Amino acid sequence: MGLFEEKVAIVTGGGAGIGEALCKELGRQGARVIVADINEDEAGRVASAIAEHGGRAQAQRVDVSDERDVGCAVEEVAARCGRLDYLFNNAGIAIGGDARDLTLDQWKHVLDVDLNGVLYGTLAAYPIMVRQRFGHIVNISSATGLLPQPLNAPYATAKHAVVGLSLSMRLEGADLGVKVSVVCPGYVRTAIYQHTVLVNMPREQAARKPIKMIGAPQAAQSILKGVARNQAVVVFPAVIRWGWRLYRLVPSAADRIMLPRVRELRGYRTETGADE
Ligand code: NAI
Repeated sequence: MGLFEEKVAIVTGGGAGIGEALCKELGRQGARVIVADINEDEAGRVASAIAEHGGRAQAQRVDVSDERDVGCAVEEVAARCGRLDYLFNNAGIAIGGDARDLTLDQWKHVLDVDLNGVLYGTLAAYPIMVRQRFGHIVNISSATGLLPQPLNAPYATAKHAVVGLSLSMRLEGADLGVKVSVVCPGYVRTAIYQHTVLVNMPREQAARKPIKMIGAPQAAQSILKGVARNQAVVVFPAVIRWGWRLYRLVPSAADRIMLPRVRELRGYRTETGADE
């Protein structure tokens, strides 16, 4: 029997992108998948696609920035299925721009989804998994959780915090039967780049093609491989692993590599500031 067969897995943000690919791959490998997304229609579409291919999936509307929403959903799934094996805290958003142009509400919105969303999921699943003496919480951070990302500071703040939360909870959970992993991908081809709000920054210049971009199905494969190995930090593709290694050895390299780009993008900024 495969690792994910008959396992109960909740994936937040399962209605699109990496979350959708994760749901489909888990479904393909025999898991009972709960596609949790703020967009109920998209969650339903993904659940139906899994069912059409012979898998088992159910859609659930969840807003991860709502503590009660997340808590109720996690408890309801665990009660109904009699167990909770995996929680993938994947839902995420970004609002980019020069820190001077971002409002406090914009900061809070990113932190509510990208950090609190992960925290609420973790706090809801952890006691259930401790009681069971098994379970795996998988938090999707980003390469931006390991490296600085100027002009995307709210996202970087949340993603760094998710790494700290995950690695600390991993050690707490180790003797209680609960595994915790954090995933730090580089660029993955999804609609997040269209959804990202850019404040006072032209999209064409900000969205320069990255050195390496992988597809969401490939990202899902890498994530599940890391989860199967119970890796603490799952980092991919290789270029990000090398970048992270370089940054730890020579932190000042980030200044040399990133500052020219910050200066270039700042050149397009206007003093008035307006949402795109
Ligand atoms: P996406 O924009 O394609 O999909 C995000 C999904 O999350 C959507 O279905 C959306 O409806 C859902 N969502 C948004 N806010 C929500 C909320 N409050 N409650 C519940 N669901 C919500 O994004 P993508 O690219 O698939 O990103 C998934 C995760 O991977 C995010 O945490 C992102 O930060 C992270 N990531 C993405 C990378 C990329 O290059 N695409 C790279 C590194 C990390």
